[in-house]
Amino acid sequence: MTCSILTGGAWGDEGKGKCITYLCNNDKPDIIARAGVGPNAGHSVEFNGEKYGLRLIPSGFVHTGAKLMIGAGVLVDPEVFFHELEYLNKYDVKGRTLVDGRCAIIKPEHRERDKHSDYLSKKIGSTGSGCGPANSDRVLRIADLAKDVPELEDYITDVSLAINETLDEGNDVFVEGSQGFSLSLYYGTYPYVTSKDTCASTFAADVGVGPTKVDEVITVFKSYITRVGAGPFPTEITQEEAEAKNIEEYGVVTGRRRRVGLFDMDLAKESCRINGTTQIALTCVDKLYPDCAKTQDFSDLSGETKKFIDDIQTETGVPVTIISTGPDLKDTIDLRDELL
Ligand code: GTP
Ligand code: IMP
Ligand code: MG
Repeated sequence: MTCSILTGGAWGDEGKGKCITYLCNNDKPDIIARAGVGPNAGHSVEFNGEKYGLRLIPSGFVHTGAKLMIGAGVLVDPEVFFHELEYLNKYDVKGRTLVDGRCAIIKPEHRERDKHSDYLSKKIGSTGSGCGPANSDRVLRIADLAKDVPELEDYITDVSLAINETLDEGNDVFVEGSQGFSLSLYYGTYPYVTSKDTCASTFAADVGVGPTKVDEVITVFKSYITRVGAGPFPTEITQEEAEAKNIEEYGVVTGRRRRVGLFDMDLAKESCRINGTTQIALTCVDKLYPDCAKTQDFSDLSGETKKFIDDIQTETGVPVTIISTGPDLKDTIDLRDELL
């Protein structure tokens, strides 16, 4: 039995989608559970030559043997939920996706309040998905819950009970957290953050699993950093510098151009400390070091790349077990057997 939690190391978009797809496989885990804020997230999943952009359904959907669950802490927008059930129909998600009845609901009114608030949309640079206003209503205890929405009736379950029973039976559970450490309402760059904590302990609470049940916390870092929206960004570089390095990016949910910066070791250390990280997954190594593209063997990495990885390991004190060298699942160096 292993309960793993995956977290974003910085401001989101670290490539969690690919890591989740890689780390889960058809035999296990039994449950892939979504934690985090809600449909403000945008995950990219590339599988069998096709690319999917998702906001709510767990990124592990390609693994058809797993049940997909949305934990009570996550905000559910029924429009996004039903759209994704159709969009991912090919993977039979309808038959195996379940939502905790205690999830709070995002209504069209929340999206309007988000988009039309100058403070949220212009100053903070929110995604406009309604998450901030819906979490605010939840704190005021006036939000609707999923169990009270008739269209969701067939999908409602007690996610916490299902997860704890699955663990008690000796099976594996994988919890995918969205966003990233620096967007945490508590530990991020307040007020330029999202509407909830985005660290491992909150992800455990989101799906109703106690801290004593968690075995692994895998934190995903990209080899450089990106940020969408406003706020401090100590290692930021100019768009021209980012273009010259070929690391410019655009957001999945908003299409906005992402701000780009260099890897930030101080941030990585704090992120690992507060998340209680047991393993690091490092993505887009090939974007920073093109000579490493598609490398599948650690010994084939250049000396410069090895030093970069070694420095991260030494400074954070956490093993870098997964090194991603391209978007394809094959483009992965997996050191778990050697390092754990
Ligand atoms: P999260 O928000 O953390 O889930 O990230 P994401 O999956 O949404 O990342 P994003 O939307 O920024 O998309 C990342 C893109 O990079 C996707 O198309 C991935 O397939 C791709 N990708 C992931 N890992 C790597 C990598 O190691 N190298 C390269 N070149 N591309 C990658
Ligand atoms: P909100 O979560 O929509 O209120 O947005 C607040 C801030 O968090 C903005 O800067 C958003 O760009 C950022 N944000 C929220 N979710 C994500 C995500 O999944 N990836 C990257 N940035 C995000
Ligand atoms: Mg993303």
